[in-house]
Amino acid sequence: MYRVIQWGTGAVGSEMMTAILDGRPDLELVGAKVYSDAKDGADLGELVGRAPIGVRATTDVDAILATDADCVLYTPRTAHLDDVCAVLASGKNVATTAFLFHPRRMNPADRDRVLAACETGGSSVHGSGLNPGNLSGVLPLALSGMSRRIDKVTLQERADWSVYESTGITFDNMAFGAPVDSISPTSTDFLAFNSSIFTEQVWFLGDALGADLDEVTATVEAVAAQQDHQIFDHLLAAGTTAGQHWRWTGLRNGEPLVEIETLWTVGNEYPGHWPKPRHGWTLTIEGDPSMQTHFFSMASFTRAASMEEHVRSANVATAMQVLNAVAAVCEAPTGFATSATLPLIYNAGAFAR
Ligand SMILES: NC(=O)c1ccc[n+]([C@@H]2O[C@H](COP(=O)([O-])OP(=O)(O)OC[C@H]3O[C@@H](n4cnc5c(N)ncnc54)[C@H](OP(=O)(O)O)[C@@H]3O)[C@@H](O)[C@H]2O)c1
Repeated sequence: MYRVIQWGTGAVGSEMMTAILDGRPDLELVGAKVYSDAKDGADLGELVGRAPIGVRATTDVDAILATDADCVLYTPRTAHLDDVCAVLASGKNVATTAFLFHPRRMNPADRDRVLAACETGGSSVHGSGLNPGNLSGVLPLALSGMSRRIDKVTLQERADWSVYESTGITFDNMAFGAPVDSISPTSTDFLAFNSSIFTEQVWFLGDALGADLDEVTATVEAVAAQQDHQIFDHLLAAGTTAGQHWRWTGLRNGEPLVEIETLWTVGNEYPGHWPKPRHGWTLTIEGDPSMQTHFFSMASFTRAASMEEHVRSANVATAMQVLNAVAAVCEAPTGFATSATLPLIYNAGAFAR
């Protein structure tokens, strides 16, 4: 039984909590760090619509650090390295959807700080999820097991964010609704952070598959809305950013070998000049043999479900990739655990739940 603390109880964190409360005999929820005063002191069960469990959420970081636990599930909207280092130094492992996907290519000073915290606490840290995570890490590596030679790997993500209820991420962080000319890989701290995460994923694939990349470039084309769109409590005004086409490209001798491309819209106006893969994620490996796989998650392929449920399914997938890794992260050697170093993460009790 592993004792876990939820740090951030938003869209992804809540899915982890309900999964634990609804039937994970291997995991015990012993605390939660929240940000809003409204959630401070709330019972963790009631916070996610379940029966009370007698454990209360807190905004107090020191209280979380002092809580005895094996692992912190770190899912805040914005990742803070200081917090993660404090958790690791306190002796708790960290499994996160937010960052630390490929430490080899992260800022060396930051990497050293994380490693020092792991040494102090005898702890390990793992970043994963859906993308970045399974689809940009685990799945390509798994497919490479069937390959003789790879010439190029491309992962395309096509998604309309209109139905994504984390509007803090859509508007505040990702700057949809901002002027088109304000969108660049470095124009805000968050866009730079987000771009660095996908850049890291390209490096991850290049490093894991022996591509010997020289560099990874990042570009974005922002596209303006033709008309106004009401997105939950936000008005996306005509003329502001409603589309972002990002490309992170890993090059060797100027030749693109690894590419992650995202085709993101809000308001569902799809620019005519953009590539048109199917909605979801398309992974294409050109090589011997050439392979292609398409991933799409839904609440169900057989029963009727609301749009809200279908949308949530991607959060479930993100959350479970990390929740199912808790045991492996807790058993991993001190330091970084990545999708390339951990054993295959799978849900051994999936049918029993
Ligand atoms: N790897 C992947 O595939 C993947 C996919 C989706 C999301 N993610 C990442 O997973 C994380 C969680 O996503 P989400 O959709 O659950 O986000 P979210 O619902 O928008 O936010 C999560 C929580 O962040 C908290 N928060 C408020 N102010 C904050 C601040 N200043 N700094 C940090 N956190 C603050 C909020 O806490 P309160 O509710 O207590 O106010 C909120 O519940 C994000 O880092 C996101 O980028 C990764």
